[in-house]
Amino acid sequence: MNQDRDKRDGDRGDWVFHRPVLEHEVAGLLAPVLPGVVVDATFGGGGHTRRLLHEFGESVTVVAIDRDPEALANASALGVAVVQGNFADLGRLVAGVTDQPIAGVLFDFGVSSRQLDEPGRGFSYRKEGPLDMRMGPDAPNTAAQIVNEWPADRLADVIYRFGEEPLARRIAAAIVAGRPYESTSQLSAVVAAVIPAARRRGGHPARRTFQALRMAVNEELDAVSAGLEQAIQILRPLGRLVAISYHSLEDRIVKQRFARGATGCICPPDLPVCGCGKSAELRILTRKPIRPSAEEIEANNRARSAVLRAVEKVAA
Ligand SMILES: C[S@@+](CC[C@H](N)C(=O)[O-])C[C@H]1O[C@@H](n2cnc3c(N)ncnc32)[C@H](O)[C@@H]1O
Repeated sequence: MNQDRDKRDGDRGDWVFHRPVLEHEVAGLLAPVLPGVVVDATFGGGGHTRRLLHEFGESVTVVAIDRDPEALANASALGVAVVQGNFADLGRLVAGVTDQPIAGVLFDFGVSSRQLDEPGRGFSYRKEGPLDMRMGPDAPNTAAQIVNEWPADRLADVIYRFGEEPLARRIAAAIVAGRPYESTSQLSAVVAAVIPAARRRGGHPARRTFQALRMAVNEELDAVSAGLEQAIQILRPLGRLVAISYHSLEDRIVKQRFARGATGCICPPDLPVCGCGKSAELRILTRKPIRPSAEEIEANNRARSAVLRAVEKVAA
């Protein structure tokens, strides 16, 4: 048995490891930019930061960011600069702690296992807890506000879009009819009751609805777009940006932004002089996105949906 196997993930009922997702690949992609400053924009349990410090020692200076103050509680013990805030505000957060050029930025999006495992945070459909789901104090709504106050149409849109839940309208109507809610288990029971046994695919019947609510509570996709934009801006020439997504909508934003940045002159090839004035700002390092190996997924179930993409900022 792997020694890292130290924690049971109650949410999925399987073992998870403290090994960060695609850690070897992340370290390999960031190695060429060192020595330098790397921003870990999603510090979480600090797994990636630890790996970078362990592998690169003094050649890496890490700035650790998370919107969750609890995630950062022990971060300063690692000797890294610690900043609490939303990476949608990355430029300002980083400027507050360093004026050095930024050699690398890492995003490991989504929620951490620690957040999922803590019933008091309200992320888990299996554990009794308050309907909170905020990753940090900056989130504009709690899940309770959304399920108790939003109209059925808006709820259904969120559940359909972020949860990719085909029964979204039915679930939203049942949620509205069962108001008010205070706890995760109340909500989870109402959602489960709506989904017929024959339509229960992909784990717990409330999984998709909870995921959707979490993404709405934390305005996650808006933060992904803003965070990428700012990361590209603050990177030094030849600096690298690595992003790990767990949701197809997240990955699509990353893929499209990288593709747009990597598009250079769009003039017809027979035009003797460029008339469009466009030049690529990024070079894509992962023509095909990197996914975890079967061994990694076996060892860490959370890795199963991970997709890694990376770019390098083009020299000025
Ligand atoms: C998947 S975990 C990161 C795990 C980490 N890479 C590790 O190895 O332990 C994602 C973390 O990003 C944080 N996070 C998510 N969205 C954020 C945002 N918009 N701004 C700052 N932190 C965010 C979450 O609070 C969570 O702690």
